[in-house]
Amino acid sequence: MAQLEASDFAQAVVDRMGECRDARFKQVMTALVKHAHAFMREVDLTPDEWMAGIQFLTATGQKCDGKRQEFILLSDTLGLSMLVVALEQARGARALADQPGEKPTEATVQGPFFWPGAPRLELGADIGEGFGEPTLYHGRVTDTFGKPVGNCALDVWSGDEGGLYDMQKGDSMNLRAQFRTDADGNYRFWSIKPTFYPVPGDGPVGTMLEKMGRHLNRPGHMHMMFNAPGHERLVTHLFVKDSPYLDSDAVFGVRNSLIVDFPKHAPGTAPDGRSMSRAYYTAKYDFRLVPSA
Ligand code: BEZ
Ligand code: FE
Repeated sequence: MAQLEASDFAQAVVDRMGECRDARFKQVMTALVKHAHAFMREVDLTPDEWMAGIQFLTATGQKCDGKRQEFILLSDTLGLSMLVVALEQARGARALADQPGEKPTEATVQGPFFWPGAPRLELGADIGEGFGEPTLYHGRVTDTFGKPVGNCALDVWSGDEGGLYDMQKGDSMNLRAQFRTDADGNYRFWSIKPTFYPVPGDGPVGTMLEKMGRHLNRPGHMHMMFNAPGHERLVTHLFVKDSPYLDSDAVFGVRNSLIVDFPKHAPGTAPDGRSMSRAYYTAKYDFRLVPSA
């Protein structure tokens, strides 16, 4: 029998997929096997190191529950989530290449703190009451041709003034809601000016980041997700312009086009007509969605 050597095992695994009927699955698995084998050969992996890797992945799975997704955190902190986002946007850009219209708003990571079923509130509602520094978020949602996207579902969520999300603290929702744009695509709501915060560091991914000599922090950002019939879903953030860690986000999510000024205003009448007895911030941003093919 011909004996397999170190450089032969990957091809031997690939050769066993002759009966595989799913062409895309076969393509993905072939590349995965080849790259995984090449990686192990490149670093000359020892049995102890491989066992440490298996124990790390086991601990990562064991850390997951209904509210905690340590594998997403692993994907985020290794830049894989942003790579998938970037590949998807590049695919969209290729599809739009020969069409007129403006560039769509850039996407970024969803992260693990989206909680479906947030309260549906009227435009202009304040979801930040009792938390940090009041901020009016406002702007318009259009498609890439400038046509307003009315009745677009807009989910927003952020951490509190200490950078903690509601689901990290307990079972009651706060600092999150779903709004609908008006007929002209306008949105407005009040929340807080988000602060930078660390991603959860008390699990195996935190231990890995420590060992890599990396910090855990994300710059201040407001999560926003747009869903409108006839348009591609957009998952993105607005980043606070003067926030620390914009240039070293632990999950590589920052896009320059999403960094926004948060000007501070003295007490008085806010742009939406609300009378403010304390200083407040505003963040204005217009979003462009891609019409579905
Ligand atoms: C977040 O922004 O909520 C987040 C994203 C990735 C990992 C952890 C948190
Ligand atoms: Fe976040």
